[in-house]
Amino acid sequence: MEKFSYNKTDRRKVTTLRLQEMKTNKEKIAALTAYDAVIAKIFDEAGIDLILVGDSLGNVVQGLDTTIPVTLDQVIYHTKAVMNGVKRAMVVADMPFMTYQISSEDAFFNAGRLMKEAGAAAVKLEGGEIIAEKVRVMTESGIPVMGHLGLTPQSIHRFGSYRTRGTNKEEADKIKKDAKVLEEAGAFAIVLEKIPYQLAQEITDSLYIPTIGIGAGPYCDGQILVYTDMLGLTTEFTPRFVRHYARLREIISDGVSHYLEDVKDNEFPNLDESY
Ligand code: KIV
Repeated sequence: MEKFSYNKTDRRKVTTLRLQEMKTNKEKIAALTAYDAVIAKIFDEAGIDLILVGDSLGNVVQGLDTTIPVTLDQVIYHTKAVMNGVKRAMVVADMPFMTYQISSEDAFFNAGRLMKEAGAAAVKLEGGEIIAEKVRVMTESGIPVMGHLGLTPQSIHRFGSYRTRGTNKEEADKIKKDAKVLEEAGAFAIVLEKIPYQLAQEITDSLYIPTIGIGAGPYCDGQILVYTDMLGLTTEFTPRFVRHYARLREIISDGVSHYLEDVKDNEFPNLDESY
């Protein structure tokens, strides 16, 4: 696969324009989720291009089984926290279930809150043709929109499982059409989740805007993962698209056990650590 030597000292702020330039230059977009300032600051300083305050915060932060109960106020709260840690990365806030489906006015108002109150640079919505009008209204009014196709977790109760999407012709054609419609409506990028890599490649090649894959193979213009999966904080979720780049669960557990022993044995604090 083609290697791109990227400039690690490039501290230019990441914008929709910069993402577009990255696609043109074949520089991959590296994205992760984050939900608080401490983690966001580490990712930003490491050079991550895009941080998504995903409604996956329902799973990660709140311990829920689905993202459905997540509220707009909760995403605003976490986006504000992330913004406090970030200087360079583009921060995108997820629009939770029922905050954009009802009407264009409602969707526009709620997206506006994510930008005005939380400071997000863009919002992300799940769906294709069905949300195209909302994407158009928002984009024309200055709100950059990222689409999300393939496996769309907010529709879990409609599909009944988190299986791979686009594995039959009808579903694949629909995803391709939705991607085109989103681009035409003004979306600046599209997340492709859990679809065959050939389909993701075809969509990526057919679009002017970048695609960001999660479980969609290596030919997307960028990649995103939920950070707790990729850093090994959650170990029970093991789909094949998650690579563990660290084993934070073990590191934290060891550190906490050591601290606990020291407190019980009266080894912590010592007098040098006291006033
Ligand atoms: O909510 C989220 O974290 C997401 C990513 C999985 C793309 O939508």
